[in-house]
Parts: sequence; C-alpha cells; structure tokens
Amino acid sequence: MNRTRRLRKSKNIRRLVRENHLTIDDLIYPLFIEEGENIENEIVSMPGIKRFSLDRISSELDEIIALNIPAVLLFGIPTLKDEVGSETWNDNGIIQRAIRFIKEKTPDLYVITDVCFCEYTSHGHCGIIHSNSPSPDNVDNDATLINIAKQSVSHAKAGADMIAPSGMMDGTVLTVREALDHTGFSDIPIMAYSVKYASAYYGPFRDAADSAPSFGDRKTYQMDPSNRDEALRKATFDDQEGADILMVKPALSYLDIIRDLKNTFDRPIACYNVSGEYAMIRAASEKGWIDGENVMMESLLSMKRAGADIIITYFAKEVAKVLAR
Ligand code: PBG
Ligand code: ZN
Repeated sequence: MNRTRRLRKSKNIRRLVRENHLTIDDLIYPLFIEEGENIENEIVSMPGIKRFSLDRISSELDEIIALNIPAVLLFGIPTLKDEVGSETWNDNGIIQRAIRFIKEKTPDLYVITDVCFCEYTSHGHCGIIHSNSPSPDNVDNDATLINIAKQSVSHAKAGADMIAPSGMMDGTVLTVREALDHTGFSDIPIMAYSVKYASAYYGPFRDAADSAPSFGDRKTYQMDPSNRDEALRKATFDDQEGADILMVKPALSYLDIIRDLKNTFDRPIACYNVSGEYAMIRAASEKGWIDGENVMMESLLSMKRAGADIIITYFAKEVAKVLAR
C-alpha cells in the first residue's frame, strides 16, 4: 500500500490529515431589506432567499442567531429612486432604519452594509451619470466619491459595524477611511470589494435588488473576466488605501484570484459566492441532477482551499444546519 492510501484508510485518519475546514465562523449571510410593510417575498431566481420589510424580519433574525451565523451583509430596496441615489445617505432611509432595528433586537449580530448606488439610482448604475449624455462611460468617479462618503457615514451613525463599498470607483477605500476617521468612526473596518468582475453571475441579484442597469452594462467600471494581473493591482491600491479585508467577487469562477490575493497580501481575504452560483446549484438540485447539499459543501470548501478566510454566501443558513448535525 502506498503512503497516501495509508492516510486515507479510515474516517478518523482522514480527519487527522484534512487540510481545510469549512466552519460557521467563515460565513456572512446577505439580507435584502425592502422599504414598506408586510413584505416577505421569495426571490424567484433564488429559492429560499426572501426580501423582507422590517416588520417581518424578526423571525429571520432569530433563526440567524440560533444558527450562530456571525454576520449579515445588508442590501436595501428603497421606494424612492433618483438620478444620484440620494436615499442612500438619508439618516432615516431603509438601511439606516434596518441597522438600528437589527442592532436593537440582536446586538450580538455583526452588521455589515453594502455601500453602492445601483439599487437607489433611477438608471441602476453604481454612481453619478451625467445626464446630458447618459452612458456608463460617463460615470463620474470623483463626484460619486463624495456621495460614497456621505452614505458610509450615515450607515456608521446608524450603528453599522463594518462598511463594504461595492461600486468600484477608484479611490473609494481612502475616501471611506477618511470620512469615517473624521466623524469619530475610526474603529469601523472596511471590507473592500477590491476585485469585482463584470460578471453574468450577478443576474439573480439584480432581480432581487431591482438594480439592473436601465442602459449599458457595468463593463466600464467592473473588471474584465480575462484579467488576472489587474486583480493584484486593484487589491494593491485598496490595501494601500487602508482596506481591512480584501474581497474577490464572484468566487467560484475566480478561485485563482482568491489564491493570488492570499499569497500576496497579509490581510484577511473574503470572497462573494454570488447569486448566480447559488441559483445554479439550487436549480440543478431541484431537478434532481446533482446532490445539492454535497455540491454546496464542496464548492464552499473550494473557496476555503483557494485561500478565502471569509465567504459571503446565500447558503449560510443551510451550511449551518449541515455543520450542526
Ligand atoms: C451592487 C452589488 C451587486 C452584487 C453585490 N453588490 C450587483 C452588481 O454589481 O451588479 C451582486 C451580488 C450577487 O450577485 O449575489 N453593486
Ligand atoms: Zn452597484
């Protein structure tokens, strides 16, 4: 018998030599919070995931706490959209109210907020677009930064524990860091969406969050899936600008990028197991074509093996149930 087989012979020896483990401590669960009342609607392309209004979210929060999930990532669906997404920095906006509600009800749950504009702009893009020539080529990076600062501070004032800017404007991390430091929130970390590809895997999310662009696409500000070296350049900027955690998004098609970042930066690395990755496994599993639970565990484990310290995933509740057995 050869050496590797000797170390595979029984369940217990496999346990002893196992290199990577998926635990509940690795996971962040995204929550979609919709403005309004009495809303608890399952997202068609994301079975098991719902949009909640605040008056209906309590039992979901209780379940998250009972399952020992450490953190949630909040996305807001506002009733009011405008050209610049000004609801994002309204201190009484849907996310600000959600943060206060969650921190009051479940103070131990760590609350991270996604900072972007696409759910709040009438055109669905992630920044300010000059309306004399509406095209994603004209996203005004620097004007958007000013609003990113306002939104981040508003989330911090409401009690957010961590800020996660996702809009891919250059200079975002430095802008958020300075804004937080100048307003008394130097203790709030930033999880940067450092490497965010212009991906078709975001499809179900855009239905979930009503954030599909009304014209054009996000290829002018999100990364080209062909590029690998650029990912390191982007992450280097965010690291130098003060990001506390560097994120790669999506996860499954970008495991090489996760490993590059892990080998290069002495920072915690996160990855976002996005909506399309979730939907694929769910759909094939519903058809009986794959063993959904085992494929879920295997694909999340592949992210750990690639080097992710943190995984943002819609599977978090299910994983918690599997791990608890
Ligand atoms: C907003 C945002 C998106 C996702 C997270 N934040 C969508 C996008 O960039 O179009 C995608 C998450 C997912 O697909 O699960 N900027
Ligand atoms: Zn966006």
